Amino acid sequence: MREPHLPPAYRLITLDTVDSTNAEARRLAILGEEKAPDGTLIWAKEQTAGRGRRGRKWQSPKGNLYCSLILRPEVPTEQAAQLSFVGALAACDALNAISPPGHIVQIKWPNDILLNDEKVGGLLLEAETGGGKTPEWVIMGLGINVAQHPSRVEFPATSLKASGWMVTEVDCLEAFSRHFMAWANTWLEQGFGAIRKHWLWRCKGIGDKIEIRLAKKTLRGVFKDIDQDGALLLKSGKRELRITAGDVFFATA
Ligand code: BTN
Repeated sequence: MREPHLPPAYRLITLDTVDSTNAEARRLAILGEEKAPDGTLIWAKEQTAGRGRRGRKWQSPKGNLYCSLILRPEVPTEQAAQLSFVGALAACDALNAISPPGHIVQIKWPNDILLNDEKVGGLLLEAETGGGKTPEWVIMGLGINVAQHPSRVEFPATSLKASGWMVTEVDCLEAFSRHFMAWANTWLEQGFGAIRKHWLWRCKGIGDKIEIRLAKKTLRGVFKDIDQDGALLLKSGKRELRITAGDVFFATA
């Protein structure tokens, strides 16, 4: 496989195998800024203990993209979670940039990437706030099903290969790194409002009936919007609910 060419702001660490690139990024991040500056990017060919959102496992055989970016943004700690929307936007645009014609790449709240309505990727954000005004570090993990995808999952999954794309993990990594830089700059210069607007354009299901599965209950209603913190606003009967975590499912026609 060819070497990735990334913008110079990144410092790439390539591994054949690792438990989880997020775990490895965390081990590096706690060593401090000198050892792991902003822009350190861990890329592994496979993971033995890949993790997903909400404590789930992320199946990580060879052939897919697994990477984690160490970020040290100088923003108020409470704004750091907005980076998951920046990352989803970048991943969505990265896939669109390398897509063959006729495919639809969208975002499923909060940061799943859909290809033709099936899940093809996801992001996992982890942060150490350290109680300070700005976060010590934020780790943005991205997984994209390039060649393989899980079969028995709650939300249908696909891979780029199964959808007929002739691209590699390196193509995805390069595209993501470029698009992330651009959207991160927009976020730093213009704030979350600009990110939210572009995120909403790419989001599946706004205005539609959806189901949100939480740990212990399922909510149903119409997906109205996301608010200034990225929470999902659900109109359920006469009430408007504000959801900060959960899994979205779409009504089938
Ligand atoms: C999800 O949709 O549940 C998020 C999946 C995130 C998976 C990526 S793969 C690279 C990084 N390392 C991990 O252990 N998880 C993330």
